[in-house]
Amino acid sequence: MFTKAYFPFILLVVLLAAWPASGDEFVPDNTYHDYNQLELFLRDIHTTYPSITKLYSIGKSFQGRQLYVMAVGKYLESGELLHPKVKYVGNMHGNEAVSREILLSFIKYLAISYETNSTVREFLGKTQVHIMPTMNPDGFEVAKTSNQEGTCGGVVGRNNAEDLDLNRNFPDYFVKNDVDRAVETRALMNWVADTHFVLSANLHGGAMVANYPFDNYYGVDSEKSEARYSKAPDDDVFINLAKTYSFSHAKMHLEPGCDSESGFKNGITNGAEWYPVTGGMQDFNYMYAGCMELTLELSCCKYPPHSDLLSYWSDNKDALYNYMTKVHIGVLGVVTDEDANPLSGVNITVAGREEFVASSPGYSVTELTVVVPPETGRIMQNITLTKAFIERASHADKNISDWITRLFVMWYLIMSMCQ
Ligand SMILES: *[C@@H]1O[C@H](CO)[C@@H](O)[C@H](O)[C@H]1NC(C)=O
Ligand SMILES: *[C@@H]1O[C@H](CO)[C@@H](O)[C@H](O)[C@H]1NC(C)=O
Ligand SMILES: *[C@@H]1O[C@H](CO)[C@@H](O)[C@H](O)[C@H]1NC(C)=O
Ligand SMILES: *[C@@H]1O[C@H](CO)[C@@H](O)[C@H](O)[C@H]1NC(C)=O
Ligand SMILES: [Zn+2]
Repeated sequence: MFTKAYFPFILLVVLLAAWPASGDEFVPDNTYHDYNQLELFLRDIHTTYPSITKLYSIGKSFQGRQLYVMAVGKYLESGELLHPKVKYVGNMHGNEAVSREILLSFIKYLAISYETNSTVREFLGKTQVHIMPTMNPDGFEVAKTSNQEGTCGGVVGRNNAEDLDLNRNFPDYFVKNDVDRAVETRALMNWVADTHFVLSANLHGGAMVANYPFDNYYGVDSEKSEARYSKAPDDDVFINLAKTYSFSHAKMHLEPGCDSESGFKNGITNGAEWYPVTGGMQDFNYMYAGCMELTLELSCCKYPPHSDLLSYWSDNKDALYNYMTKVHIGVLGVVTDEDANPLSGVNITVAGREEFVASSPGYSVTELTVVVPPETGRIMQNITLTKAFIERASHADKNISDWITRLFVMWYLIMSMCQ
């Protein structure tokens, strides 16, 4: 018989049953996924969390494997206003295997935490996170089938199937980079041209450091490869971003060093001051795609035993999360016409840090000063463009509505020295 006296007890049982089994704990697989397993892993996540994930491919590798990306976020439809995009790309060198696995874990962690962790849920409600666990699936397959697991300094599987080093394969801002462009590189170039990322990282192994632009300089002698600091206009922002990663990482900021190589001060380095690189992805993102990118070296050993993966995950988990939250520093806003309709294809140039010039065909050029408050490091600034012509032809009306349907936002990541 059911009496009132039983009610608190039954309620307690119901509450206990509803409690997540292990709270927010997420335990990664602790194994290397080959291409088929990686594909299954990603499909499974998307099937389990269809409303906050989108699995897509930006093209195929030389041997025909998909270059998968998992997007995670509450608002994943393209053109969604005011949700900046951040990306992680792993395993560009096929034998540098740690990033491939910790990015798979990170995808799963974000999907699970959307339900269980209000901080993560809030972040995914205002951000799009795009994660490519492997940019070089062919190279990894070579490394894995040649039993490279446990090989710390090897190069088997580093390059793509055409034997091109993908991190020397991009157009270079400083010197002409005369190389055959790999299909994987082309896919990346098209991706960043179509999807406007503002922040990203490119994950590697073989060292322990957060590396920031520039990776190259004018007049570099490819024979001598002389190391020297190559300062980007946003040097202070890059240092701040690199420190965000190294100080959130369990060991990187402690300057551990690898074998004979001594550690880097604060766990960060300017790219060219370490050694110059021509055709790297980092400078390409910054100079050609308007996206601030770091190159993160996450393990002294390029392909450590799978039993070490758990500790790499726990060393990097907070750093991966904290770094991408930086996508919200700087200036965020929408450019609209006078009727508050968002405009696409607007050209915004920023002189120094604060002088903005916005222009779009058919609209008056608008100049304004935007100052990011140092206390918060962020500001929302919308811009309204006014029509340059009072008389408009009837077909112009139609053209303007075309503009409006192609919703598009320009994001600007600028920051004063803060935090
Ligand atoms: C929620 O996620 C954030 C980011 O990963 C983490 O720092 C925080 O500890 C998590 N909160 C709980 C209660 O687990
Ligand atoms: C954008 O505007 C700047 C000047 O404000 C100009 O130099 C540049 O060529 C323009 N770019 C495009 C793509 O229209
Ligand atoms: C900027 O525009 C967005 C989208 O229309 C709006 O939600 C926001 O309140 C505006 N912000 C400011 C500071 O005007
Ligand atoms: C409107 O679009 C048509 C067809 O694309 C083009 O011929 C015309 O020049 C455009 N008009 C204006 C004012 O941009
Ligand atoms: Zn590498």
